[in-house]
Amino acid sequence: MVTKGVEIAPATGKLGVLLVGLGAVSTTLVAGVEAVKLGLEHPTGSLTQMGTIRLGKRTDNRTPKIKDFVPLTDINDIVFGAWDIFNDNAFEAAMNAGVLEKDLLNQVSEQLSSFKPMPAVFEQNYVKRLHGENVKTGKNKMELAEQLIEDIARFKAENNCERVVMVWAASTEIFLEASEVHQTIEAFEKGLYDNDPRIAPSMIYGYAALTAGVPFANGAPNLTVDIPALTALAEKNKVPICGKDFKTGQTLMKTILAPGLKSRMLGLHGWYSTNILGNRDGEVLDDPENFKTKEESKLSVLEHILQPDVYPDLYEGFSHVVRINYYPPRGDNKEGWDAIDIFGWLGYKMQIKIDFLCRDSILAAPLALDLALFMDLAQRAGMKGVQEWLSFYFKAPQTAPGLYPEHDLFIQLMKLKNTLRHLKGEDLITHLGLEYYD
Ligand SMILES: NC(=O)c1ccc[n+]([C@@H]2O[C@H](COP(=O)([O-])OP(=O)(O)OC[C@H]3O[C@@H](n4cnc5c(N)ncnc54)[C@H](O)[C@@H]3O)[C@@H](O)[C@H]2O)c1
Repeated sequence: MVTKGVEIAPATGKLGVLLVGLGAVSTTLVAGVEAVKLGLEHPTGSLTQMGTIRLGKRTDNRTPKIKDFVPLTDINDIVFGAWDIFNDNAFEAAMNAGVLEKDLLNQVSEQLSSFKPMPAVFEQNYVKRLHGENVKTGKNKMELAEQLIEDIARFKAENNCERVVMVWAASTEIFLEASEVHQTIEAFEKGLYDNDPRIAPSMIYGYAALTAGVPFANGAPNLTVDIPALTALAEKNKVPICGKDFKTGQTLMKTILAPGLKSRMLGLHGWYSTNILGNRDGEVLDDPENFKTKEESKLSVLEHILQPDVYPDLYEGFSHVVRINYYPPRGDNKEGWDAIDIFGWLGYKMQIKIDFLCRDSILAAPLALDLALFMDLAQRAGMKGVQEWLSFYFKAPQTAPGLYPEHDLFIQLMKLKNTLRHLKGEDLITHLGLEYYD
């Protein structure tokens, strides 16, 4: 199918990337981008920077880099800003996070030290384990949202940015379910004035971003903009949104492996996943109410990929357990184990063990970079509301109401690349390939 392509405004000037939370992921992102700008490192793990896209037939030999194919902001034109409940500048925060080596941080210390977080919208009730002092006050949640909108405008003017995007990389909030206050823009705004406890800080950031016309990507599993009121606001103000929960580590492995098992019609009795993690994220998730938010996000992937209702003989009633244990000695270097009990021909049992010695923020930082750049592209291309083509980056992708999310990493990648081809009016690739045999 040939499409005409979509008009995309050029990526001129500076792009402000406003990070909510200046913790392990954000500082690893900021330090990494500064290191790449200085030519010290490669942006490994970033599809926007290193990925290519095949265009036309396999025999055409057209495989540009994605960043040369669609008009993405050059990473030299990115300016970072952040909010956090701690006063530490980005250098101190990166040192505390302990992800990157001091040698590397020292080489970008000038850029990082000058960057201080703005006071956050925060309530301890939503993140039980944290106490911070760099926090906004206001007579109600609407006033806090207004302060964030002022922050965005000030940041944009002071840094001479043409455009701004916001990425939530702050702590996981307690588990909340969508209720009446989340259903319409009017109910939500009334809730902001009434200080409704069902409106979490992340939703206040989401509301502020969408009101200010700023695209919002949610890297944590909190509901945040995944509520009817804020998806409606995104549509109304023509702003792209996406989430939830960066797909790194164990879930990344799951969405690589499970589609493979299913494609060979291998059955599953159970998948037991456990993690030890010693960073601040691990500490926050050690609280049962915060862990529940993460657990919901992690558990959903296998059901959707394996479709037990379609393949009851292979997948009905499989056991799926996910645990995260806070274990300080490991810091950000998580160890994730998977014990997978599968069965094959004639029901014969087999086992797969995975022991992934990963680094959480090293896996997450390039995703945050790609999301910032793709969300900016989406806005310049006039795309609004939920950006399902960015499911590739998330554990619990946001979708249109009533639509089940696609979790298979390879389908997600195909969808992402076909969206880029569509934007540029290139043929979508179906992999049919009969034309080579005519
Ligand atoms: N690293 C990964 O692989 C990964 C994967 C998926 C999701 N995530 C999610 O990304 C988020 C960030 O992870 P991290 O490892 O950087 O955590 P972190 O604890 O190092 O950083 C989070 C920061 O957010 C700040 N914060 C908390 N509430 C805030 C608020 N309301 N406003 C502003 N700042 C606030 C905290 O003070 C902290 O500095 C977490 O929610 C985590 O679950 C991380």
